[in-house]
Amino acid sequence: MRLEGLSTAVTGGASGLGLATARRLVKAGSKVTIIDLPTSNGADIATELGEAARFVAADVTDAEQFEAALDTADEHGELRSLIHCAGASRKLRLLDKEGNPGSLEDFEWVIKLNLIGSFNALRLGASRIARHEELDGERGAIVLTASVAAYEGQIGQIPYTASKAGIVGMTLTAARDLAGRSIRVCTIAPGIMDTPLLARLRDDVRASLSAAVPNPVRLGRTDEFAQLACQILENGYLNGETIRLDGAIRMAPR
Ligand SMILES: NC(=O)c1ccc[n+]([C@@H]2O[C@H](COP(=O)([O-])OP(=O)(O)OC[C@H]3O[C@@H](n4cnc5c(N)ncnc54)[C@H](O)[C@@H]3O)[C@@H](O)[C@H]2O)c1
Repeated sequence: MRLEGLSTAVTGGASGLGLATARRLVKAGSKVTIIDLPTSNGADIATELGEAARFVAADVTDAEQFEAALDTADEHGELRSLIHCAGASRKLRLLDKEGNPGSLEDFEWVIKLNLIGSFNALRLGASRIARHEELDGERGAIVLTASVAAYEGQIGQIPYTASKAGIVGMTLTAARDLAGRSIRVCTIAPGIMDTPLLARLRDDVRASLSAAVPNPVRLGRTDEFAQLACQILENGYLNGETIRLDGAIRMAPR
């Protein structure tokens, strides 16, 4: 699928991996709708990106808000793709230091945002893309964001790991499910990416994180994620797969 002139919705597009993707898509001539929380600086970013970008405040776990955001994206230009980056984590141990069980609420919060949010984005994004006629043999594509934690969860990441493994698990099923509608689905599983969260860490902590990456020995660049997300949209034969983007890192237990 070509990027130029078509409309893409980017969730979590006000920061980190989503922001880098929104920037790259605008450069490639796409019309981009950034969907992020009202507390984000999505509005300023859309202004900075110019005419091709719009911002809609919406929570990806809220069906009504997300549908309204997709309305805007579809008005901006024929919606053909969705890059779903919104997500977060909460640290949680099965038992705390005193042996008390970990919080069920925290587990549910992460599952709701990352896994249920991804399902909501998939179903509503697909329903919107499916309304358009095929273009060069396909209707569109959806990219989800997992994490290498889906495979090697570290201690304290149990809800995050469960949510991201759920996304990996949904990918092939979703691609099969949407095949009849000519909509592709792929997932990116990033390693340690240089996003605002990591930028706030001390230099020695950043250096030790970088040293854990076999090659290249550095953190991933947000634009490397954006590059892969755009390639998935452009390459019509990529489907049903989760692609690790991680410099060959395999996370240690902690
Ligand atoms: N940064 C990394 O190293 C890394 C590694 C692996 C996976 N990931 C995954 O990549 C995705 C993006 O991470 P990032 O580092 O760019 O994070 P980030 O915090 O920089 O950006 C996430 C964005 O999502 C938005 N968001 C959060 N909850 C939302 C909701 N309910 N509705 C709408 N928007 C919401 C936030 O406002 C924020 O703008 C996440 O799913 C994360 O789990 C990141």
